Amino acid sequence: PRVAVGSTGAFGFTAIDPVGNTVDDVTVPAGWRWHPIIAWGDPVEAGAPAWDPQNQSAEAQKKQFGYNNDYLDVVPFRGNGNRGLLVANHEYTNDELMFPDYGTTDEAARLRNLETAMYAHGMSVVEVKRRGKGAPWEALRRSRYNRRITLDTQFVLDGPAAGSPLLRTSEDPTGTRVFGTLNNCAGSTTPWGTVLSGEENVDQYFTGPTDPTAREARYGLNTAGRGWGAVQSRFDLRNTATRNEPNRFNWVVELDPENPDEAPVKHTAMGRFKHEGAHVQIAPSGHAVAYSGDDNRFDYLYKFVSRDTFREGPSQAARRHNKTLLSDGDLYVARFVGDGLADGEYDGTGTWLPLVVDGRSMVPGMSVEEVLVYTRVAADTVGATGLDRPEDVEPSPVSGFVYIACTNNTRRTGAQTDEANPRANNKDGHVIELREDAGDPTGRTFTWTILLLCGDPEDESVLTYFGGWDGPVSPISCPDNLAFDDAGNLWVSTDGQPGTIGYNDGLYLVPVEGPERGRVQQFLAVPTGAETCGPQVKAQDGYVLVAVQHPGDFGDASYANPRSTFPYDGVFAGARPACIQVLPA
Ligand code: FEO
Ligand code: CA
Ligand code: CA
Ligand code: CA
Repeated sequence: PRVAVGSTGAFGFTAIDPVGNTVDDVTVPAGWRWHPIIAWGDPVEAGAPAWDPQNQSAEAQKKQFGYNNDYLDVVPFRGNGNRGLLVANHEYTNDELMFPDYGTTDEAARLRNLETAMYAHGMSVVEVKRRGKGAPWEALRRSRYNRRITLDTQFVLDGPAAGSPLLRTSEDPTGTRVFGTLNNCAGSTTPWGTVLSGEENVDQYFTGPTDPTAREARYGLNTAGRGWGAVQSRFDLRNTATRNEPNRFNWVVELDPENPDEAPVKHTAMGRFKHEGAHVQIAPSGHAVAYSGDDNRFDYLYKFVSRDTFREGPSQAARRHNKTLLSDGDLYVARFVGDGLADGEYDGTGTWLPLVVDGRSMVPGMSVEEVLVYTRVAADTVGATGLDRPEDVEPSPVSGFVYIACTNNTRRTGAQTDEANPRANNKDGHVIELREDAGDPTGRTFTWTILLLCGDPEDESVLTYFGGWDGPVSPISCPDNLAFDDAGNLWVSTDGQPGTIGYNDGLYLVPVEGPERGRVQQFLAVPTGAETCGPQVKAQDGYVLVAVQHPGDFGDASYANPRSTFPYDGVFAGARPACIQVLPA
């Protein structure tokens, strides 16, 4: 059989059967139910109008919940277990599913839709409450913490590259202030209660430049873009006054949801690339160590080690200090070396190659500012190992081992395979386990092994591996977001599975210790066309959070021809991205 049954995993659920990729439903295990918390268009800030798909506008969207929620968490708030601050990323938009007059030839209407879509990006903070443990979270419509982060929100650029000429534009000659955050993909909640968010595929928002330098081309620039320059000229790089605007994106953003009046920060010390997200663990020495993948085919895994150390305790002084930890530190990129296949394992050793140490560039010919702004170029120079699209990277809170989701890479050829990326035409992706030597996350060396070679175990044309477990597993493809429950079980959500193995995307439990190591068991499936994002598994609290992204994005779907009506509340004939909670029935 394909599917594990009778699991006694973290929640004692029985794995669901894989769900065909045209099924428009959220599927959860027997004994569980799901509940929508907030959806695209729902009012967030004071004065937000009720959502009206026939009358959308940028002004309304600036105060309403954005589109395509990705990272998601409910951050504990003021020590009250029944209040929280829901923080969500809004990565991008599916304009063809959003607007009744999508594709109109009326220029004013086209620009109105474009501007609305621009303001459906960013982040949201929404206060939530519940009646008690086991009850669903409900979004509060009136809270002083409710906040939309949009292209109008001013961010502070901090760290060693702040103020660099590489970050200056005619609108910001200081190189220290940026309006907006874009393509916010995965993220994490820090040990001090702020939220990190990765700015990922930012290149798509810029038009040009038509004469890109090699450094600009390495960041994917020089495309037609989405035409945003017609609304805000800074997105048109044929305009030389804004040529550095892309350098002001592709950072890790830190947002403090408890301080609604505080400008969020873009941390230049953590380097600039297509950050999927970033996850912090506190080393035994007290340093904050943040791991981050550059989600691009053949791109790299990075780690940042803070200069200063974490202060324990709930005091505001400790919190203020901890909020500076990501502003200064050392930056490394990973090289993986296999030890050969004679041992029957895809594994080996690795080195953290220094890029910036003690405020000095370790890269010949590049200044610290250049290394931080053109981090990909610096990493190319030192000989890092290209991975199969490293997405979420998360340390286990129990073991400290670090897990790297490599989503897929169908462009890797047989000649390009290595022990860390062992499959050519890697359509199903894999998960790597990294163990820092001596248990020290601040160190320079590590060992690694492949935990999962994903796929459908019944498809004999694909080499699969499930951590040594040889019983039944749920088929799984394209691992993207990672989470851990309190017991240290890994949870994996997928992106792109409908196109590879024909099942709706989902969320999977994967024990990493003990006799069930590698036993993949599917917990839920999202509706047709959707992607399972943001997962949080609050095992002790008995619930799971999932961001259902781009529901109904399947085949030739459009506003007029929807393929999904998720979240099935009758508000809309199409689908709305929404954050859901899964809890015992
Ligand atoms: Fe936005 Fe790498 O997924
Ligand atoms: Ca080996
Ligand atoms: Ca992702
Ligand atoms: Ca994704």
